[in-house]
Amino acid sequence: MIFARRSTTPSPAHAARLIGLGAYLPPKKVPNADFAARLDTTDEWIRTRIGIAERHIADPATATSDLAVEAGRRAMKSAQVEYVDAVILATATPDHHVPGTAPLVADQLGLPQVCAFDLGAGCSGFVYATTVAAGLIHAGTAGTVLVIGAEKMSAVVDPADRSTAPIFGDGAGAVVLTAGQADEPGALGPTAWGSEGKHADAICIPAGGSRRPSRTVDDLKNQYVHMKGNEVFRHAVRRITHVTQEAAAAAGWRIQDVDRLIVHQANARISAAVADALGIPPERVPANITHVGNTSAASIPLLLSHAAIDGRLKARQRVLVTSFGAGFTWAATTLLWPVDLQALV
Ligand code: UT7
Repeated sequence: MIFARRSTTPSPAHAARLIGLGAYLPPKKVPNADFAARLDTTDEWIRTRIGIAERHIADPATATSDLAVEAGRRAMKSAQVEYVDAVILATATPDHHVPGTAPLVADQLGLPQVCAFDLGAGCSGFVYATTVAAGLIHAGTAGTVLVIGAEKMSAVVDPADRSTAPIFGDGAGAVVLTAGQADEPGALGPTAWGSEGKHADAICIPAGGSRRPSRTVDDLKNQYVHMKGNEVFRHAVRRITHVTQEAAAAAGWRIQDVDRLIVHQANARISAAVADALGIPPERVPANITHVGNTSAASIPLLLSHAAIDGRLKARQRVLVTSFGAGFTWAATTLLWPVDLQALV
């Protein structure tokens, strides 16, 4: 029998520190032209209204856990760790309703007995999950935590719906967090977060849960994601702007001190409106939506990985990470970019 072991001897820490970063995109790229060929849309509309040129789509045999395992493996390799005390998977597209997907991922990563659970907070799931991980580390419950955001959005998007199908993509990203000091590179700052469930129907999959089990539903469309795009857009700009200000204030930062604003990649126009409202110049707002689309809970760790690899994130920069999604949920946190972090993609 294998008994659980600990990565370190945990003791209450002052902060969680980022030590590993990785991402995985399924190889197949789908350009806008594929949607324009079968839906009432155009490459130009998708580029100008959303900012997307292509997205990666997993093949039918690939599940969210497969994407998560690849990203998790890369983050652990980047951190040079073979063991973590907990795995938290942020996802809106789990492999199954039961069991959770995180235990499958942990098992595949050679972590068969660690604490592993899913966290569902839509596109805010990754920031929620890093906050929970930081709390576990802060309390001394865990020494090192693997946090993954992974989505197979193509499994829940109606291929015939032009208002959602071109928007979403598949992918996964992951970080390894460990105990550290609040002022050292890699340290996560305080999180500002919240939710507003009265807008639950603005982004939702109406059927397939306990409210409306699949077996009672004859309309397949209700098992796909529905989004009131324009309503979501307006709330997203307002909430992301506000929660970003709250997170900066909690960390004792002024907005003008933010070197990089990492915004959930939902729509290039949302990121631009937020940056404009905050007075942050566009060159401080990295983006990768053009090539990956909206990957929901995977969006932020994917962007962190891509921006780290192409040099847009550098040691000791003040990074503010901010998100908004289904629920509604929103969350933002600060991060001092680590020294010598090798992201793996
Ligand atoms: O990640 C979680 C959070 N999600 C988001 O933050 C998404 C936020 N929302 C958005 O990004 C945008 O609202 C969308 C990209 C979804 C839609 O863009 P929009 O500029 O808000 O368009 P709209 O919904 O106001 O629709 C404008 C028009 C409509 O036509 P009519 O009624 O004016 O004739 C739509 O039917 O654009 C139409 N439309 C399209 N036209 C061509 C909607 N989708 C498409 C399309 N191609 N793919």
